[in-house]
Amino acid sequence: MELDKAITERRSIRSYTSKDVPQKLIDEALELASWAPSAGNLQSRDFIVIRNQQTKDDLVVAALGQEFIAQAPVVIVAIANLERVAHYADRGKELYAIQDSAAAVQNLMLALHARGLGTVWVGAFDEKEARRVLGLPAHAKPVAILPIGYPAEHPEPRMHLPPEEYIHLEEW
Ligand SMILES: Cc1cc2nc3c(=O)[nH]c(=O)nc-3n(C[C@H](O)[C@H](O)[C@H](O)COP(=O)(O)O)c2cc1C
Repeated sequence: MELDKAITERRSIRSYTSKDVPQKLIDEALELASWAPSAGNLQSRDFIVIRNQQTKDDLVVAALGQEFIAQAPVVIVAIANLERVAHYADRGKELYAIQDSAAAVQNLMLALHARGLGTVWVGAFDEKEARRVLGLPAHAKPVAILPIGYPAEHPEPRMHLPPEEYIHLEEW
């Protein structure tokens, strides 16, 4: 799929069919995610791939009842790896690892879309509870929960700001 088309036609998908998602597609998308830029090329982000139903159900609770997470055949949790970015001290931990994760998540979402899969970035979750469910060590900060499946909905584009609202010429 052409890149511009993948970018403009991707939508947040919150309803999935029960059709199985081949692991090969997940592996391909994660490989593409790993090509995202990262501070110092430290690649300070990891991914947890979840198919276990109980874990998905527990993530629904962590994500304040967002039930569609449990419906998705696969869930990926994107993790900022604060240990790998330690070279950059506070700026690494507070900013770069999050940015590395975000860049990789966007690659991942586009790669999934290009393979006919739907996903949504779930950011509203109780971090402490997500940590408990996933058994994360202190240096692993969960950044996004991504339920993944074949779309059972085809949403219209969301409201999109006009360029004059977000492009500032020369100064703010
Ligand atoms: C940082 C972040 C956090 C988000 N958190 C949630 C969330 O918790 N639940 C949800 O349903 N969508 C969440 N979204 C998805 C947005 O609602 C969605 O991207 C936005 O409405 C634009 O729609 P689109 O992705 O279809 O273009 C989040 C997106 C981002 C980038």
